[in-house]
Amino acid sequence: MQHRTLGTTGPRVSALGLGAMGMSALYGEADRAESIATIHAALDAGVTLIDTGDFYGMGHNELLIGEALRTAGEAARAKARISVKFGALRDPDGGWSGYDGRPAAVKNFAAYSLQRLGTDHIDVYRIARLDPGVPVEETVGAIAELVEAGHVRHVGLSEVGADTLRRAAAVVPISDLQIEYSLISRGIEEQILPTARELGIGITAYGVLSRGLISGHFDRDRQLGAGDFRGMSPRFQGENLQRNLDLVDALRKVAEGRGASVAQTAIAWVLAQGEDIVPLVGARRRDRLTEALGALDLTLDAADLAAIEEAVPAGAASGARYPDSQMTHLDSER
Ligand SMILES: NC(=O)c1ccc[n+]([C@@H]2O[C@H](COP(=O)([O-])OP(=O)(O)OC[C@H]3O[C@@H](n4cnc5c(N)ncnc54)[C@H](OP(=O)(O)O)[C@@H]3O)[C@@H](O)[C@H]2O)c1
Repeated sequence: MQHRTLGTTGPRVSALGLGAMGMSALYGEADRAESIATIHAALDAGVTLIDTGDFYGMGHNELLIGEALRTAGEAARAKARISVKFGALRDPDGGWSGYDGRPAAVKNFAAYSLQRLGTDHIDVYRIARLDPGVPVEETVGAIAELVEAGHVRHVGLSEVGADTLRRAAAVVPISDLQIEYSLISRGIEEQILPTARELGIGITAYGVLSRGLISGHFDRDRQLGAGDFRGMSPRFQGENLQRNLDLVDALRKVAEGRGASVAQTAIAWVLAQGEDIVPLVGARRRDRLTEALGALDLTLDAADLAAIEEAVPAGAASGARYPDSQMTHLDSER
């Protein structure tokens, strides 16, 4: 397994991380036994970074990871680094009611997460979205107190813009910013990525397959169940979907030329954007995980990168990456 370090102060982790969200929520039905087998297979393959959120299935995802860790081999368990997002306020019908980054809330969220995960510490802890009602210094300051007390190892951030990164990094060492970054979501390149680099903050990139859209496995006629995020995502609707899948067809030609799959090419492209970037892949099954790990063996040279850029130019995606109601929560889009 290749490794990368998250920023100048963060942990050294596998060059690919496993995002467990889809094992509990947002992408339709998931198979529990297969989910746990996938986490075990990832650990066995040397993946050491596992990402979750306490609101993924309202605790379900953390309990699942806790079970997978308990039943994994001791060596693998010892190497696992768990990244947890908190702060999202949910309701019993699955609705979203905002974010809570008040210091007392941060500590309350952490207490529950530690219990569900069955661990004595969280490796990287971050609020999922900036709480506009609480200065970021207070939120990251509360996490720093958890670091001081030994409950958390590193402070991260998620989907914040350059100004917020600067403010937070001025008061606390920040290991990494978790943010969407893929061939079709390149918004961070202009300001956020250079700022993170200047501050020594790593990137954990999510949505590298744009939630399956650019994985090469997404079928135009796929029926999405109730509660599947993709049913509400602008990129998966009507003409947008058609245009985006046309980009995937162009990418497939480049991938075939390299004897790789579309998903591997999309992941390898993110890996090639810098040693400070660790892609999180949302594999929910062992076969998908195996495919994703194959990206680590695909080295893209300048000609490959140029061919990919031609197939999927920056800004080519049709549709915003979130529905309007969720775009408003993204400090990174201001
Ligand atoms: N900070 C944030 O705001 C934020 C937001 C979203 C996600 N995340 C984190 O990032 C992780 C990854 O995000 P994501 O799940 O949206 O990313 P993704 O990797 O872009 O998409 C995952 C989906 O792609 C499909 N897929 C097809 N081939 C695949 C392959 N070879 N490997 C993996 N997936 C393949 C799967 O769908 P099927 O199983 O349906 O085929 C899977 O559900 C999440 O699990 C979560 O931990 C963070």
